[in-house]
Amino acid sequence: MIRFENVTKQYDLNSIAVDNLNLHIRKGEILILIGPSGCGKTTTMKMINRLIEPTSGKIYIQGEDAGKLDPVELRRNIGYVIQQIGLFPQMTIGENIALVPKLKKWPEQKRRERVEELLHLVGLPPEKFRDKYPFELSGGQQQRVGVARALAADPPIILMDEPFGALDPITREQLQDELLQLQLELQKTIVFVTHDIDEALKLGTRIALMREGKIVQLDTPDRLLRTPENDFVRDFIGRDRLIRQPETLKVEDIMNPNPVTMLPTHGLAEGLDLMRKRRVDSLLIIDRFKKLIGIVTIKDMQQNLNQACQLAEIMTSEIITVVEGTGVREALDIMAGKRVGYLPVVDRQGRLKGLITRTSLVNVLAETLWKATS
Ligand SMILES: Nc1ncnc2c1ncn2[C@@H]1O[C@H](COP(=O)(O)OP(=O)(O)OP(=O)(O)O)[C@@H](O)[C@H]1O
Ligand SMILES: [Mg+2]
Repeated sequence: MIRFENVTKQYDLNSIAVDNLNLHIRKGEILILIGPSGCGKTTTMKMINRLIEPTSGKIYIQGEDAGKLDPVELRRNIGYVIQQIGLFPQMTIGENIALVPKLKKWPEQKRRERVEELLHLVGLPPEKFRDKYPFELSGGQQQRVGVARALAADPPIILMDEPFGALDPITREQLQDELLQLQLELQKTIVFVTHDIDEALKLGTRIALMREGKIVQLDTPDRLLRTPENDFVRDFIGRDRLIRQPETLKVEDIMNPNPVTMLPTHGLAEGLDLMRKRRVDSLLIIDRFKKLIGIVTIKDMQQNLNQACQLAEIMTSEIITVVEGTGVREALDIMAGKRVGYLPVVDRQGRLKGLITRTSLVNVLAETLWKATS
């Protein structure tokens, strides 16, 4: 539907706004452009309707080289919604919506019917809103008019640049729902710019995550959540949103990185005191290089309570551990096979990195199952 081929936009010599972009936007999809401020989203979008001309490369719209189309005609055939709404203050709502149909010289009757139809479509009763002026409407209502106006001449392509950015969260969610509903009925090709990852995940058929004029990852929301390509993507999505799969999870992803530890030279009373304070039933014993050398459980303590001795004397030094990088599945098998309730995680030098407990495992598995079924 819309194809970018090696498209570059350079506003000035020392910075490239869009850097050799290749992108195919498919018919009927909502393609989200998202990324940090200044990464080139608006520039990319405005090159589609030629509000901005590429420095090099080509954009094809329905197979036609956009550079060869008449820009005015092109813009009339592409709906455009922006954040600052851009309604004309001196025109009524009806006149605003009928703008492009009028430019296209639709007869008056047809324009009137279209305005009525569209106001219904975006949930604004025509008899109440048609003759009002933009300033008499709330932000959300104005934004609905903006959407209606973009749809007016029934263009196959709609560009939306942070259309809901200025709205309060509730109105915003409402408009997102309405857009999805509209899209079910109308099947437009929509290019949608947003800053908001939740909005992107909710609305996007596919999401293009941009950075410094390039696409870092282009994928469906599901694939983005399951298989982020690098740390930039992970950070942008937010690690708590990522779908954690047991198959790909490593022990360090789910371990407690700050287990309760003590040096072997400490006494039993100190050990007991720390256990009580931290509400744990075992202590990991490490040397001064953080190397794991043993474990003392509450049971060991009880059996030796009457002796004044050091933790070193009562600790168990045969401990089952896993090395960083081990898969969670494997860890689960080890815990089940060896019948242990905890599993220290160490690095290749045997230094303690964290602790896996049965509870932490169960929590993660439950969470993944829950995400997979919801
Ligand atoms: N008219 C212009 N002249 C010079 N540089 C520009 C112009 N418009 C944009 N830029 C620069 O091009 C880069 C991309 O800008 P663009 O507006 O496309 O970013 P964006 O991703 O839409 O950012 P935002 O999220 O803040 O809207 C930025 O570095 C910006 O400063
Ligand atoms: Mg922008």
